[in-house]
Amino acid sequence: MRTGVWLVGARGSVATTSVVGALALRAGLTPPTGCVTELPELRGPALPGLADLVFGGHDVVATPLTKRAEALAAAGVLPGRLADAVAPELADVEAALRPAPTEGTPADRIAAVVDDLTAFRRRHDLDRVVVVNVAATEPAPEPHPAHHDLPALRAALTGLADVLPPSSRYAFAAFTAGCPYVDFTPSTGARLPALAALADERGLPYAGHDGKTGETLLKSVLAPMFAMRHLAVRSWSGTNLLGGGDGATLAEPAANAAKVGSKQRVLAETLGYLPQGSTRIDYVEELGDFKTAWDLVTFAGFLGTGMRMEFTWHGCDSALAAPLVLDLARLTAAAHAAGRRGPLAELAFFFKDPLGDTGHALGEQWAVLRDFVAGLHAGVAR
Ligand SMILES: NC(=O)c1ccc[n+]([C@@H]2O[C@H](COP(=O)([O-])OP(=O)(O)OC[C@H]3O[C@@H](n4cnc5c(N)ncnc54)[C@H](O)[C@@H]3O)[C@@H](O)[C@H]2O)c1
Repeated sequence: MRTGVWLVGARGSVATTSVVGALALRAGLTPPTGCVTELPELRGPALPGLADLVFGGHDVVATPLTKRAEALAAAGVLPGRLADAVAPELADVEAALRPAPTEGTPADRIAAVVDDLTAFRRRHDLDRVVVVNVAATEPAPEPHPAHHDLPALRAALTGLADVLPPSSRYAFAAFTAGCPYVDFTPSTGARLPALAALADERGLPYAGHDGKTGETLLKSVLAPMFAMRHLAVRSWSGTNLLGGGDGATLAEPAANAAKVGSKQRVLAETLGYLPQGSTRIDYVEELGDFKTAWDLVTFAGFLGTGMRMEFTWHGCDSALAAPLVLDLARLTAAAHAAGRRGPLAELAFFFKDPLGDTGHALGEQWAVLRDFVAGLHAGVAR
């Protein structure tokens, strides 16, 4: 199953690490540590092989992928020897990247993305192309009546006013070109009723939002523990310090608000109440692609006895995110091949702010994912 993976934000840290990682994996240069779909419980015939993935994408900057890979190697995100070993294949991916369209009406820019996706699918003789948004986090858009109605949205896009944020224009283009869409970011993406209608009209699946790779991953394990032991969480406060391009973007208050919003759902929905405290994200340039999360949880036990736990998480953001991007591309491609349409709630395991209603506890999300993937494999074996 030759599968295109079209990365929006293709020259960013997560995208570059995903591409270098996939090329190194297929060359047998590194083990698939961190790739969930390579676990024995999920591996199987329904998923496209890593060697079947063909990469392309859009970005607003033109920094060569080899330069991005060198910078990531220098920062300790990926081994420099891997970037060197896959340099020829990286040059092929470079040739498949396109500048993000910036000219004309929103409808013109969407049409240009559709043309790029269609040309990519034809040139590489792909069975399907999954569009994965790994671009910089956007602020939440101003609400617009056309967000709720597909004909009104189509009409509005031909005007000069930008009624959709870029992530939603990419989702619109993906669906128009017949491609499933995955949002690894907290941006709006396909999360508008008019875009849900478009995905439905085209019979396409989509997944999101916001990859779960650090503090929220830990919350989705620890919060169910407090709930199952009937302990009362009184406060949960977290401070996240991060650098890199993502950190710089999140220094903007509106993008910061979008991210913090997507990190909060897990506590309220797992505990059934929202304890005191908040999550902060601060930009510290010096940290580069490495993120530190400090959390303090205070809780009450039997007879009201107060207790506390603290944890510190030092994660390499792109090394945690990149294998999940590959997992999501493979899983969404398999879901598309199986005829799935609409939101893929079964992929909640991967997201901070998942679509649908499968709960936020990691263990439950894992069980749902495992059953879903078993069903996909059974479908191709029949
Ligand atoms: N790394 C993680 O653990 C993690 C977890 C969850 C979500 N994310 C999200 O993944 C995204 C990427 O993170 P990153 O560290 O690679 O950031 P980054 O800043 O390194 O890369 C983002 C890329 O997007 C490009 N871009 C911006 N606007 C664009 C547009 N309109 N069209 C096309 N490209 C555009 C930028 O030029 C840049 O190359 C962020 O939104 C981040 O919040 C990352």
